[in-house]
Amino acid sequence: MKIMVINGPNINMLGTREPEIYGSLTLDDIINNLKDYAKTLGIELETFQSNVEGEIVNTIQKAKNDCSGIVINPAAYTHTSVAIRDAIAAVGLPCVEVHLSNIHNREEFRKNSLTAPVCIGQIAGFGANSYKLGLQGLVDYINAT
Ligand code: DQA
Repeated sequence: MKIMVINGPNINMLGTREPEIYGSLTLDDIINNLKDYAKTLGIELETFQSNVEGEIVNTIQKAKNDCSGIVINPAAYTHTSVAIRDAIAAVGLPCVEVHLSNIHNREEFRKNSLTAPVCIGQIAGFGANSYKLGLQGLVDYINAT
């Protein structure tokens, strides 16, 4: 089984970006830890990060070719992107939305996710662990369907 892991804008700046909110791990740290975890689940990961909305849409569409599901942190696009929401709905792959921070206890504008309604679930607030929990939930969901 292969899972696509997608990260949106400014996630490439983790480590130095507002560490009091997002922690001190870099995106490479998070991805390497997640790949180790994926091995224990016996699955393969493909990973992608972009600051560009259309590139994220292209990657979601590409995942349909050879992936069984998607873990996505759409970052700021969570709150704005109809295009990413529509791409998730269009490919029909099970998708889990993850966030490092708890978007529900921050600014008002972060509380609304345009993407969560087309995902099987959302995990927010557990730092880097959100990715692990999201991946585990997605794999369990796929195995059960
Ligand atoms: C984020 C939360 C978003 O509101 C924010 O724009 C991000 C990161 C998170 O992982 O906590 O860039 O998705």
